[in-house]
Order: sequence, then structure tokens, then C-alpha cells
Amino acid sequence: MKTSNVRVSARIRPLPASGSSHGQKPSFGASTLGSQKIIVETGKTKGVGFHEVFEGKCSNRDIFDSLGNRIVSGIMDGFNATVFMYGQTGSGKTHTMIGTKDDPGLVQLVSNSIFDRIEKDSESKNFLVRCTYVEIYNENVYDLLNKRAKLEIKLEKNDSFVAEGNKEIFVKTFDDLNRVLKLGARTKTMGVSNVNEHSSRSHTIFSIIVESQDNAAVESLAEEEENAKLKEGGKDDPALEEQKIFRVATLNLVDLAGSESFTTKFGHTQQQETKSINKSLSALKSVVIALSKSEKHVPYRNSCLTKLLKRSLGGNAETDIIITLHAGAEYLKESKYTIDFGSLAKKVVCAVKENVASNSDKVLIRKYKAELEKISEKLRKAEALAKEKQKADEELRELAQMQRNMIGSPRGGVDEESMGRILKLENLLEEEKMGRMQALNSASSRDAFVAQTILKNEMEMEKRLADMRLIMEHEREQLIAQQTRENSTVRSELREVMLQRREIDQLKNSLQEEREQKRLLQQALENAENTIMDLTLQMSSVNSQMFFQKSGNAQQTSDAGKSTA
Ligand SMILES: Nc1ncnc2c1ncn2[C@@H]1O[C@H](COP(=O)(O)OP(=O)(O)O)[C@@H](O)[C@H]1O
Ligand SMILES: [Mg+2]
Repeated sequence: MKTSNVRVSARIRPLPASGSSHGQKPSFGASTLGSQKIIVETGKTKGVGFHEVFEGKCSNRDIFDSLGNRIVSGIMDGFNATVFMYGQTGSGKTHTMIGTKDDPGLVQLVSNSIFDRIEKDSESKNFLVRCTYVEIYNENVYDLLNKRAKLEIKLEKNDSFVAEGNKEIFVKTFDDLNRVLKLGARTKTMGVSNVNEHSSRSHTIFSIIVESQDNAAVESLAEEEENAKLKEGGKDDPALEEQKIFRVATLNLVDLAGSESFTTKFGHTQQQETKSINKSLSALKSVVIALSKSEKHVPYRNSCLTKLLKRSLGGNAETDIIITLHAGAEYLKESKYTIDFGSLAKKVVCAVKENVASNSDKVLIRKYKAELEKISEKLRKAEALAKEKQKADEELRELAQMQRNMIGSPRGGVDEESMGRILKLENLLEEEKMGRMQALNSASSRDAFVAQTILKNEMEMEKRLADMRLIMEHEREQLIAQQTRENSTVRSELREVMLQRREIDQLKNSLQEEREQKRLLQQALENAENTIMDLTLQMSSVNSQMFFQKSGNAQQTSDAGKSTA
């Protein structure tokens, strides 16, 4: 057992491009004080210390590089761990946890690293990895891996709480795990009208459970068990149960609802949700306050969230909290509340121990192994019985032969002693036959590889389902693409028609203009013709006038000549 404080890191979401281009300054920045990382409000000198402070262009990979290896190593060594994201809506909780295609989140980076380690250790250890994914919404727990089935919270013997009957899916590879994540994300939005609003009001817990079995330790335990049995006259040595053979560790990755206080401007359902979110978040705060003051009574039972995270808050789990803040000035008040929560949480101490499994049935590797051993034992017995039966059959055949020989013998009869022996043997054989039948029946009713088959089938089914889902998604995408293509063809055809119509209109207009011009020209022509006509008339009248004048003058001249003569 070791104690360790909750490690609180902070991530400051950068200002949007529009903000920084308008000369806005981030409200917070990262700094250091000796070896301590601190977060400082702009313009102030004092800051608040955190485990790590990530700001600006920090990627999810940078965060993983700083925190991930420790978390993964802990899990592989059998220590439980929890990482949770706390901050107001839009401050980057889901961005950090799930991320994007180009910048995958902690869930992907941590799981990828777990599978890398499994591959490295696969020669010396057996591993079994399974996942669960639940959502807490309105103080109800839903199974995101089982059609959003509502789950009840149950108190276990060891005083911890579990979501009873939540579906566990076995995963063998990172791709399997990604399929589980996608299934959960799809289930989360099932029947939800406003996805963003829903997300900001719900808490999700994705858990990865890693069990491992050390092959060398199993062999040495088997030897020691054998020796102990010889020494103790067949009794099990309880000390051997403490051997580090099976380790089981759970990693919870928790994306909390937005931490902002909701106002009464919302409608009835939202108010109900607000109460529930406030209930679980304020219960979380009360738990953290009680733990930070080392109070005796910690109010875990006040909400679903604190019940399910009991182990991660002051219990047996290494806990990391990443608080997320907006850098924008308009979020300053809310960001300060978030920092206050982080400061409180830093004081919480967890008592963590290596989870070395006992012979409890909960440890699946051990359970399946025990199951297989029982079945193998039954089969061994059945085989032994079958051999005995074969032997008895042979004996019976010999006896029958003896009987026939006796009947056919010259003495003409079977002596009473021999008859008695035959009858006894026949009864014995019948009994053995029955016994063997029973043993075979029970052995066959439990398939020799029942455990492995169940496991394999479940994984196979999940895989097939996931494949089908992928195919369906692919088909849907193709359909959408086809529709888009068709739409764009129709659009371009429409555009063509519009263009043609516009051209026709233009042609019509120019035709009209031409007609008008023609009319004007005709008018002008007519005018010109009229003018020509007028001018012609005028000219002819002038001509005739001139003619008459000329001829008048000639008359006068001849008359004058006549008078002169
Ligand atoms: N550090 C960051 N860098 C870039 N974009 C971010 C960062 N944090 C958040 N975002 C973007 O801001 C939006 C809201 O973030 P999200 O993680 O969904 O907020 P929350 O889960 O806290 O409500 C998303 O579009 C996300 O991609
Ligand atoms: Mg979110």
C-alpha cells in the first residue's frame, strides 16, 4: 500500500483565431516557480501551482507524453487509475479525452500504449482486456455498450459501488477497442435531439480493465503447491494465494459534464437536468472538500457520480485530474472556479495498492482456467471409465465364451458357482455402463472448451457487429455521396437551364431592340423619303419657275429685238 496525492494538471484552451487577431490577450498563462508549474492570471504576479500546466499550442500527444507513461505503467503493474476532465462546457474536456483524427485524445493514446506493452510482454504473460462504457445523465446510469440500458448501482461487499450488469466487451487489439469507443459514442446520441447540449450535461466513464497472468509465476506456484501438499498432507497453503500471479487493474477515463452553474433560464426538463448535474457536481465538490480536510465522513452516497468514482477519490486508484480553462476574458469568473476546484483536489490523498488477485471468481483468467481444469478432469474421468468399460466388455466376452464352452461340454451343464460369477459380472458391467453414460453426459453438456468458446464467440460477435456497422456506415456514406452527386448534377442542370433562359431573355431583348431600331430606321427612311419627296417637289416647282422665267425673258428679248429692228 502506498499513498499518493491526486495529481491535478491544467490545460488552457487557446483563444480562437478571431480573438487573438483582434489583439485579445489570454486571461491565464503558464509559468514556473522553481520546479513548480504554476498558472498565473494575466497582469498578476502570484499563481496557483499544479502538477503540469499545458497552454496554447500544446497537443494531446504532448499531454500524453507528460502523463501517459506513468498511468500506463501503473495499470500494467496492477494499480488502478483514474483520469478525469473537469471544466466548463467548451473548455476542451472532450477534446483532450477523445480528440480529433489529427490529434487523437488520451483514450486512444493510453489504450494504444497499453496494447504496445501487452505485445512486448506477450511471451511471459497472458493478458485479458475488457472495456465498459457508462453514462450518467439526470442521476441515472446508462450502459453505452448495451443499447443505453438503465443500470442500478449496487453496493459491493468491499464497500465499493458498481453499476450492476454493465456490459463488458473483451478486446484483443487497439482496433477492437476503437470499435467499442465508436459503439459507445453512437449509443450516447441515440434518440438525443441536441447532441451538444446533451453532452454538456452528461458524465461518461470509459473503463479499461487489464488482467494479466505471469506464466513463470504460474509454473513456480504449481511446483510449490505440489511440494506444500506433500508436506502438509494434501492441504492448500494459504500463503501461496498471495503470490503475484494474477494482476487486475482498472483504468477509468472520465469526461465530466460542464462545470458551469446553470441558470433558471432553461425550461422544465433542463431545470431537472440542471439539478441533477449540480447534484452530482456539487456532491463531487463535497467529497473533495471532505477528503481535502481528511474528514472521517465522506459523503460518497449523495450522487451516482461520487458512488461510481468512490475508489478514484481517496480510494485505491492513482488519480489524475485535468482541469480545462478557456483563455478568453469572458470566461474569467468560471475559470477561477475551476482553478479553485483544482486547488482543493490537489489535497486529496489516495491509498493505492497493487491489485494482486486472490482466488476470487472475479478474476476472469483464473476463473476460466479453473473452469477448464474442472472440465478437463471430467473428461479424464470419462476416458478412464471408457477404458474400464472396454476391459469389462472383453472380460464379458471371454466369460460368454467360457459359458458356451461349458454348455456345449460333455458334462451337459453349468455349475452354479460359474453362473453366479457371470451374473455378478453382468451386474457390475451394467453399473459401470450407467456410470460412464452419466459422466459422458455431464461432460458433453459442458463443452470441453466452454469458457474459451464463450469468450471467443462474444468477441467474434462483437467483431462481426462492428464490421457490419462499418459496412453500413460505408454504404450510408456512399448513399450520401451519391445523393450529393445527384443533387449537384440537378443543380448544374438547373444552372444550365437558367443560363439558357437568361440567354433567351437577352435574345428577346435584343430582338426587341432591333425591332425598335428597325422601326426607327423605317420611320427615318419614311421621313427621309418624305423629305426627298418634298425636296423633289420643291425642286420641280423651282425648275418650272426657272423655266417660266427663262422663257419669259426670251420672249422679252425677242420682243425687244423686234422693236429695235
Ligand atoms: N486545446 C484546444 N485546441 C484546439 N481546439 C480546442 C481545444 N480545446 C477545445 N477545442 C475545441 O473547442 C470545442 C469545444 O471543446 P470540447 O472539448 O468539446 O469542450 P467540452 O468537452 O469541455 O465541452 C471543440 O470544437 C474543440 O475541438
Ligand atoms: Mg464535452
